[in-house]
Amino acid sequence: MARLLLRGFEIRKGYLDNAAQRRLIDALRPILKSAPLFRPMTPSGKEMSVRMTSAGDLGWVTDKAGYRYQDQHPKGMDWPEIPEPVLAIWQDLVGRDRAPDCCLINYYGEDARMGLHQDKDEADFSWPVLSVSLGDDALFRIGNTTRGGKTESLWLNSGDVVIMGGPARLTYHGVDRIRFKSSKLLPKGGRINLTLRVAR
Ligand code: SIN
Ligand code: MN
Repeated sequence: MARLLLRGFEIRKGYLDNAAQRRLIDALRPILKSAPLFRPMTPSGKEMSVRMTSAGDLGWVTDKAGYRYQDQHPKGMDWPEIPEPVLAIWQDLVGRDRAPDCCLINYYGEDARMGLHQDKDEADFSWPVLSVSLGDDALFRIGNTTRGGKTESLWLNSGDVVIMGGPARLTYHGVDRIRFKSSKLLPKGGRINLTLRVAR
């Protein structure tokens, strides 16, 4: 299990084996049923190409009113609880005395991508953001702590975990594209990325 450091991002290649990946997908299935994926809109009115939902006390949403965390799904229901096997990853890699209060679930279909951005809607940047990749490979791009400048990219595969913390907590990052159907984990293809956050 290789551990890479790239611009302060710690990348645990193959942290989850196949069985663990499958257990996570099984744990996510009821969540996606009770809090369905929705297509978010940026504050400027552009539809994002990923679809998303959340688990936890808070979920991340965006619409014309802006980027924010809120305690309900846009359709009005509470977010489901973060499943135990997801919390166990945080416990193992971050530990400390707080559990994440948000697990953002992003689904990348064939043409989905995510532009370079910072995760900065959380109250306390001393907590890392932990990202779990499931399903198709994704070309992940890492920039700098300010907009612009040179970037570096790497492929994230199913089972990889990235810890974005410390001085890299506010580093720009994004996903250029996925390699659709490169993984057999999700029967219909695509990629699920979980990001665990301490939002409050
Ligand atoms: C994100 O930055 O929120 C998602 C990153 C990823 O999909 O790997
Ligand atoms: Mn992000």
